[in-house]
Amino acid sequence: MGIHWCSVIVSVLGFLVLESVLFVDGGLTSSFIRKVEKTIDMPLDSDVFREPPGYNAPQQVHITQGDHVGKAVIVSWVTMEEPGSTTVVYWSENNKKKFIAKGIVTTYIFYNYISGFIHHCNISDLEYDTKYYYEVGIGHTTRTFWFTTPPKVGPDVPYTFGLIGDLGQSFDSNATLTHYEMNPTQGKTVLFVGDISYADNYPDHDNTRWDSWGRFAERNTAYQPWIWTAGNHEIDFAPEIGETEPFKPYTHRYQVPFEASQSTSPFWYSIKRASAYIIVLSSYSAYGKYTPQYEWLEHELPKVNRSETPWLIVMTHSPLYNSYIYHYMEGESMRVLFEPWFVKYKVDVVFSGHVHAYERSERISNIEYDIVNGNYGHAIFDIKNKTHAYHSWHRNQDGYAVVADSMWFYNRYWYHHEQHASSK
Ligand SMILES: [Fe+2]
Repeated sequence: MGIHWCSVIVSVLGFLVLESVLFVDGGLTSSFIRKVEKTIDMPLDSDVFREPPGYNAPQQVHITQGDHVGKAVIVSWVTMEEPGSTTVVYWSENNKKKFIAKGIVTTYIFYNYISGFIHHCNISDLEYDTKYYYEVGIGHTTRTFWFTTPPKVGPDVPYTFGLIGDLGQSFDSNATLTHYEMNPTQGKTVLFVGDISYADNYPDHDNTRWDSWGRFAERNTAYQPWIWTAGNHEIDFAPEIGETEPFKPYTHRYQVPFEASQSTSPFWYSIKRASAYIIVLSSYSAYGKYTPQYEWLEHELPKVNRSETPWLIVMTHSPLYNSYIYHYMEGESMRVLFEPWFVKYKVDVVFSGHVHAYERSERISNIEYDIVNGNYGHAIFDIKNKTHAYHSWHRNQDGYAVVADSMWFYNRYWYHHEQHASSK
C-alpha cells in the first residue's frame, strides 16, 4: 500500500473556459463543459450593493472567529461619514444583560482611493453554543445582527462547514451565495479559500469594489464567521501606481486571530472549532525552509491533539493538485515542502480555491489523480462525529439541493487508531 492522504480542491466560480485537459491516468471527469461567456460583475447600482440607510450607518459587517477555541468573535464594519463609535453592544439570547466591547478603527489610502473608517472589535469570553445579538453604529445609526457560537471543542461534536472560494461580485457570485444560504444542509461557518472581491481586476485596483463586495456579502458574513485564507486577488501589489505593500486592503479590512496560534502573521494561523482543527496557510507568503511560515507549520502540526479535534483540515488558496489548464502546478512548490508533513500528521483534507473548476481527488500522495470536474458552486463539509464526515458539492446550475459530487470521509487519525487497536 502506498501512502494515502486526501486533497480536496474547491473552487466556486470563474470566467475561465474549460479547454482540452490532459489527465494523468486514473482520472475521471464529468461531461459537463462550462459556458463560454465570461462572468459579468454586477453593476454598482445593483440591489446587493445598496448602502444601508441612515447617517454613518455601519456597512460591510462581517465576523470571524476571534480566538483559538471559538469563544471569541471579531466583529468588523465600515462607516463612511465619520469614525463614529468603535463600540459593540452584545447580549445572549438566554440572558438579556448587555455587554460592551471596545474596538479599534483604521483607514488606509490606496493610490487615489481613501477608505472609510474600518472598525474591528473582538468580543471574548462568550459561552459556547449560544446565540448572541450584537449592535454596531452606536451614537448615530445602529444596526443589529446575530451569530451562534460553536459547541465546545471536543471529539464527537457534529459541525457543518460551508466551503466557498474565488467568490468575486458577479451574477454567478450572487447565485453561489444564495445557493449556499438555501442549501438544506445549513452551513454554520464558511471556510473561505481565498480571492474575495477581485477589485484588482479594475483600473488602479478600484477599491470601491472592496466596499461593494463587503456590502454584497454582508447578508451572510454578518451572521456566521468566515474563516479567511489569502488569495492572489488579495495581494494588490501595484508598483506602477506606487502601491508596493502587498495585502494592504485585505489586512486593513479582514482580521484573523493569528496571534492565538502563536503565528507572527495574519496569513497563516490555526483555529479549533467544534471537532475540527483548521490550519490556514498562505500560498503567497514565503514558505520555503527557514521562513516564518515554514517554521510555524513545523511547530504547529505536532500540537494537534486528534483525541480532542479528530478532523485536521488545511486551507490553502492554490491547490497542491490540479489537473486544470489554468494555474497548473502553481501549488507544486508548496506540495513538495508540505505534503510529507500532511502525510505524517494524517491531515484529513486540504481545501483550496484558485482554480475555477471543481476538482476532488481521492486520498493520494503524489501518485495519481481521480478528477471530477464541475463548475461554479459551493460545497458543504458536514462533520457527523469523530470518524465520519460527508462532503457534498452543489453546482449553481443544479439549484441548491442537488448534490453533484460527494464523498464520505473516514477520519484519518481514528482510522489508523482503530485499525491498530483491532489488530492487537
Ligand atoms: Fe486565485
